[in-house]
Amino acid sequence: MSYKANFRVWRGDADGGALQDFVVEVNEGEVVLDIIHRLQATQAPDLAVRWNCKAGKCGSCSAEINGRPRLLCMTRMSTFDESEVITVTPMRTFPVMRDLVTDVSFNYTKAREIPSFTPPEGLKPGEYRMQQVDVERSQEFRKCIECFLCQNTCHVVRDHEENKENFAGPRYLMRIAELEMHPLDVADRREAAQSEHGLGLCNITKCCTEVCPENIHITDNALIPMKERVVDRSYDPIVWLGSKLFRR
Ligand code: SF4
Ligand code: F3S
Ligand code: FES
Repeated sequence: MSYKANFRVWRGDADGGALQDFVVEVNEGEVVLDIIHRLQATQAPDLAVRWNCKAGKCGSCSAEINGRPRLLCMTRMSTFDESEVITVTPMRTFPVMRDLVTDVSFNYTKAREIPSFTPPEGLKPGEYRMQQVDVERSQEFRKCIECFLCQNTCHVVRDHEENKENFAGPRYLMRIAELEMHPLDVADRREAAQSEHGLGLCNITKCCTEVCPENIHITDNALIPMKERVVDRSYDPIVWLGSKLFRR
């Protein structure tokens, strides 16, 4: 059961580009990345696309399909009407390199700005046992495949290049929250979260959570608890100490 689909794919580079129309065969069970590969094989051999696992695990194939941030390899063709024009464009928040490939180095810069896990000095292996509740809390955040779809979607930076310097984005604010909630991390990350990484710019619109292919509750489980901790700190440092000692 094949049919011909109408695809519209953005082609170009940092100097500009345009949407190009294609009519391309679709077979049962295929995903959008299959169709992009068919275009490469039959009509557009130089079409640039980044991908790796084709299993929703490497986070490379992020793009926008009909304006919605998606993984190309996890978007089934069966979710569209056969007559629908399917538009595939690169992620809008990051600079285009070529066609569907963007330069996502913004994210690596932000990752490097976060001080790493800081255990108490002199703690030796075997001297501390994690409680199950603490293990499970960070487990959710560690499902992140670094697809950067949340970073691409957040309105704070999506059309606001000027905010990029002062905003880590949901993925890295989540990383800060993960470390802040870790019972063994002795760094106080709340001041920096607010003043350096732009936590205050997040107005909890939850768009990041909606696009996360790993269904991580970024806003509810990371950003809002982090905001609560920042507020607690502003009013009462004892509350923060308690949260570290007795773990909420
Ligand atoms: Fe992708 Fe979700 Fe990780 Fe954001 S939090 S980078 S959307 S997997
Ligand atoms: Fe942006 Fe997510 Fe906050 S979309 S505004 S980081 S809730
Ligand atoms: Fe790895 Fe899509 S190719 S997530």
